[in-house]
Amino acid sequence: MKCATYIKSKAKNFNPKIALVLGSGLGEFADSIEKIAEISYADLEGFPVSGVGGHAGKLILGTVGGTQVVAMQGRVHYYENGQADAMRVPIHCFKELGCDIVILTNAAGSLDYNAGPGSVMLIKDYINFTGMSPLFTETGNARFVNMVNAYDKDLRRQLLCIADDNHIHLSKGVYAWMCGPQFETPAEINAIKILGANAAGMSTVPETILARQQKMKVLALSVITNYAAGMDDGELSHEQTMKYADKASQTFKTILTEFIRNQ
Ligand code: HPA
Repeated sequence: MKCATYIKSKAKNFNPKIALVLGSGLGEFADSIEKIAEISYADLEGFPVSGVGGHAGKLILGTVGGTQVVAMQGRVHYYENGQADAMRVPIHCFKELGCDIVILTNAAGSLDYNAGPGSVMLIKDYINFTGMSPLFTETGNARFVNMVNAYDKDLRRQLLCIADDNHIHLSKGVYAWMCGPQFETPAEINAIKILGANAAGMSTVPETILARQQKMKVLALSVITNYAAGMDDGELSHEQTMKYADKASQTFKTILTEFIRNQ
């Protein structure tokens, strides 16, 4: 059975307008969702299962402040199998379910000393440092996707207002997609800094491209889990990523709950 049909069979009158992708350590936001049903990715044909710690591999159907949402608790990354289009099935499924907004979250390293671990960055644009695209091998004109305003300006404005109202400071910046899974070298971080990046991470950009191709609006947030390579004496590790992602979970809960309720 196709994923969207299967999902609809699990929840009557389920017509979500918003899809969420909860990244490394951010799966806890799922606790803020009033659940209608939970589906393991293993039961969804074509949904990729992540092998990374902190990615539960469950699709949550439910409501936040009365607004229906579908949320991926965990995502697969390009570095897991070298497939840049690994998130194609989920993103297309969201479109089929009727979503017109996709909210992407991730963990990232900061290039800015003013935006330290535990803070949250609203992504205003990206740099694709991998040279990969989820649209490779596609034919036809639909592959030539316009990436201006990739992260919807109006949605960004709404989120910033909500953050302001709640006395939460969000930094705003450019996210650089690095292939991973190894962290960057200090030289790579210097290079992307010169190019205009504010944070480095290993996800989100392929999902953004796929969602924009489907004409869904995208909002994306990074939880800053560390200063990027070479910026301090700390050792980079996945354990650190998980620890700081957890620290930012209350900020996520506050701003996303309010944002979703308002849609
Ligand atoms: N680089 C890339 N990805 C990351 C980082 C980082 O420093 N921190 C968390 N995810």
